[in-house]
Amino acid sequence: MAMAWASYLETGIEVIDQQHMRIVDYINRLEQAIDGADQRAVGRVLNELEDYCLSHFAFEESLQQQVGYKFAAEHKSTHENFTKRLTKYRERHKAGEDVARQLHAMLGSWLVHHIKRDDMAYVSDLKGGIEKQSGDWLTRSVAGFFGKNA
Ligand SMILES: [Fe+2]
Ligand SMILES: [Fe+2]
Repeated sequence: MAMAWASYLETGIEVIDQQHMRIVDYINRLEQAIDGADQRAVGRVLNELEDYCLSHFAFEESLQQQVGYKFAAEHKSTHENFTKRLTKYRERHKAGEDVARQLHAMLGSWLVHHIKRDDMAYVSDLKGGIEKQSGDWLTRSVAGFFGKNA
């Protein structure tokens, strides 16, 4: 069953929510690849998902630093641990192992847990920071990390 976006996942910061929705899309594309028993598609989604997550993480980390978020270092290491797990899945997939279902389950639960527990924790600091910055600060930051893919 496709993972649905839900209001309890909303941070209220539009650019962040859009990025999280895009990660949900990747998780659903992975499910389609599983349903189609298409290992090449699994590999493609895995690569794109990893790329996108790295941009999203770098974006969040940069905003946190710029607003002086107290737990920026902890948040960064949570991202890094997740990235390491993704890399291991990618390596196992490359070695011919069918990791897609396991990966799919991990992604869904990690994302929900991370947004609810870790991302929500920086929201009020970030919102406070946004108010202090000049007009297009967020837009410029998005462009810096996502370029044309924003
Ligand atoms: Fe996030
Ligand atoms: Fe995060």
